[in-house]
Amino acid sequence: MNKIEAIEKVKSVREYMKKALSREDHQLVLSLLERPYPLEDEGNVEFLFREDGEKVAELLDGVAGYSGRMIEAPHYLVVLSRAEGVDYRRAGFIAQSIILRLMQEGIGTCWVSVESSDVVKEKLQLETDKEVAALIALGYPRETGFFEKFFSGIKASRSPYSETGYADFRFEYEKDTRQPVGTGTFIYIDNWGNVADADELERRGYLEVYHYMKYAPSWGNRRPWRFILQNFDIVMAVQRMAETEQLADHLEGGIAMYFFQLAMHEMGIRGYWLMDAQAEVPDNYFLAGKYVSDK
Ligand SMILES: Cc1cc2nc3c(=O)[nH]c(=O)nc-3n(C[C@H](O)[C@H](O)[C@H](O)COP(=O)(O)O)c2cc1C
Repeated sequence: MNKIEAIEKVKSVREYMKKALSREDHQLVLSLLERPYPLEDEGNVEFLFREDGEKVAELLDGVAGYSGRMIEAPHYLVVLSRAEGVDYRRAGFIAQSIILRLMQEGIGTCWVSVESSDVVKEKLQLETDKEVAALIALGYPRETGFFEKFFSGIKASRSPYSETGYADFRFEYEKDTRQPVGTGTFIYIDNWGNVADADELERRGYLEVYHYMKYAPSWGNRRPWRFILQNFDIVMAVQRMAETEQLADHLEGGIAMYFFQLAMHEMGIRGYWLMDAQAEVPDNYFLAGKYVSDK
């Protein structure tokens, strides 16, 4: 499975076998936590591998996960970041690259939200000046053939290009089942509100990239990102979860930035993210970065 195929299979695993990772997979995890990361983090991002999943789950019951509902797994990654939006974005980007790599080896994962970094640090007795941005549950999916079954349950090809060509994509773009109703319009040209239609995206060679974006994980699957095409550059804006900006919003921005970059590279549009951008966006959005294409 290459990375772009892995993107389409991204699916949270919430039930795990009560079995530790094999020595080989354990080694793989440790090697992925070593620098260099696929994005420069200036030492502001860090990952801890907790082998003792059962104990972690017990300690964090009622503390981590949606409404304190901890996901039980044989192991966890603790995602640490300096308390700055830009570092949370970097953490999301790097962590998602690790998740995709693990999935390629049949190792399931699930993001687990953390409401209070301080409480988690106290429970896990972590001595660090970084924040606990999130946890990632990991292990072998309880259901055998989890990824294969999930994939075969989808009748049509998920990538419209592989079998059915462009015509089907328009259908997907408009009736996208993973995009909540009313928010199918999430790519703008030049200015916020100036919606890019499928023809325009196709003309620019971006159509498939946005197809892949819907697989990017987000809190409660809210998919908070929007894009503004500015000539050859693309700005990403992220919707705030609450009235004030939360660091967790930036984590989701980083996750989406990783997906976006990977899809762009796969489509042959090489480039990189700058962590700041200029554009007018509504008050409940912030700018996560600007993707600059190699000229
Ligand atoms: C920052 C973040 C925190 C998340 N927290 C949780 C969580 O606490 N519990 C959970 O079950 N899923 C969590 N998720 C997973 C999302 O619910 C999931 O990515 C999204 O709903 C897509 O669903 P799927 O992976 O099942 O297709 C989280 C995802 C992100 C990005």
